[in-house]
Amino acid sequence: MERDDYTAASRAAWDASAVHHRENEDWRLLTDGFARPGFSCLDAVETEVLETIGVAGRDVAQICCNNARELLSVRNMGAARCVGFHQSAEFLKQGEELAVIASQEIELVPGDVYRIDDRFDGTFDLVVITIGVFGWMPDLKEFMEIPARLLKLGGRLVVPEEHPVVNMFDPHVERPFEPCFDYFRALPLQEEGAIVYDDTATQTEATHWWFFHTLSDVMTAALECGLSLERFDEHPDNISTTTYDIYQNRATTMPMSYLMVMKN
Ligand SMILES: C[S@@+](CC[C@H](N)C(=O)[O-])C[C@H]1O[C@@H](n2cnc3c(N)ncnc32)[C@H](O)[C@@H]1O
Repeated sequence: MERDDYTAASRAAWDASAVHHRENEDWRLLTDGFARPGFSCLDAVETEVLETIGVAGRDVAQICCNNARELLSVRNMGAARCVGFHQSAEFLKQGEELAVIASQEIELVPGDVYRIDDRFDGTFDLVVITIGVFGWMPDLKEFMEIPARLLKLGGRLVVPEEHPVVNMFDPHVERPFEPCFDYFRALPLQEEGAIVYDDTATQTEATHWWFFHTLSDVMTAALECGLSLERFDEHPDNISTTTYDIYQNRATTMPMSYLMVMKN
């Protein structure tokens, strides 16, 4: 399969999953939340790094912005122009709805992020890529070229992501604490079903693929695109789907998430 085949499969799976993201408690929390001025759904790590860098008056892009809840939170922190890029028209509709509730202006651009129009090149102070994006990308070097070209010189890429060590575990198996996947796995994992963050949906028709990228793959790809590492922290907190909560707050902790800041 080629990159475009994986992207088409992932787009179909996400479009089919969109309905589940507006049926659950999270959607109600978002609609209630964005009705209040200044609401943010960002966690403490994300908030701290954005406050430290400073977002007020900055032009911000989010690649793979889903329903734009994080982009709207950044806008509520005072960012100027906010542009979200995403492939799923269904999720962008939810983003537009949240923007209306928040009375905020953001620009949502539909389509494959590998085909972002070059009029956006070099126009952002910050590019944000959050939680669970790299695993959808067959080739990280090609993917990292996107933030590198969108950023102004001196702009920053901010990435709060799931730690790849988490890929070694499956909370659904009989012995969930025994590693069951190779950290260095080369082949993508074929998965079925709707994609939801609390593992509640049971629909099965959407086949999609998850790619394992090591930490060195992530860093090397960004460095090869001309970005330089400014900050890197590892955290024991689960930011993946809620079924992975069983791996946090144990006597022996493991890295479950990380924060990476790269400068252009
Ligand atoms: C796990 S979500 C992460 C987004 C956001 N952080 C969130 O928590 O909702 C990954 C998103 O990347 C999107 N995506 C994957 N490949 C893409 C592509 N080639 N172009 C645009 N979006 C893509 C998927 O549709 C999905 O919504």
